Amino acid sequence: MKAPIILAVDTADLETAQRWVSATEESVSVYKLGLEFFLTFGQAGIRAIQSETDADIFLDLKLHDIPHTVAGAARAIAQLKPRFLTVHASGGREMVQAAVAALPETAVTAVTILTSLSEEDLFEIGYANPALESAVALAKMSVLAGAKAIVCSPLEISAIRSSVGELPLIITPGVRPLSEMGSDDQKRTMTPKDAISAGASFVVIGRPITKAWSEGSDAMKAKARSIAAEILN
Ligand code: C5P
Repeated sequence: MKAPIILAVDTADLETAQRWVSATEESVSVYKLGLEFFLTFGQAGIRAIQSETDADIFLDLKLHDIPHTVAGAARAIAQLKPRFLTVHASGGREMVQAAVAALPETAVTAVTILTSLSEEDLFEIGYANPALESAVALAKMSVLAGAKAIVCSPLEISAIRSSVGELPLIITPGVRPLSEMGSDDQKRTMTPKDAISAGASFVVIGRPITKAWSEGSDAMKAKARSIAAEILN
């Protein structure tokens, strides 16, 4: 059964990407195609994946530019009809609004703070507040600007859910299934099930599923199925 899993299709090989999709389709709701994929294979690559599956596409381009330029970029991919398109919330309210206006059929998805940034990194960039406060402020602003979905770290789900209400989708990467929860990083990550319980609508999962590919398509299918069961049960 399909779980609220967005599979990160992080591979630079188109045929591998297509095989990952057919191996996992019974358990995965949405496929995330990122900058590496898009810059390598372009719109034809996205269409090749769409021809493989009825599942939705999450186009993770993380647009960030002046509103006019972002609107043009959004229009350029409109015919692909991705269910989600990411933009950086830090591009500001007008930029988010420009993307929303350009893509009425897509959930413009605002990325709050990259999970790769530490508090020190944020301070160095010039952020005045800790990551959690900044992420909540960026999420609120983006939803007011028309964003239908928010990307945040698992640790920010509860605070963002309470501040944006029930309607906006919350999507979180950086989750690890029970079987991979090492004691050392438990503070920085969550299981997919806990993320959903905390208020996430979807979890983005990559390597915990895709690394099973080295043991073959059946192993990958089984891995996706077991993580889906972990979430749904
Ligand atoms: O780590 P994993 O392979 O599951 O990552 C899946 C996706 O989530 C990747 O595309 C990565 O860019 C993103 N990610 C993230 N923050 C993390 C870990 C992964 O945004 N802490």
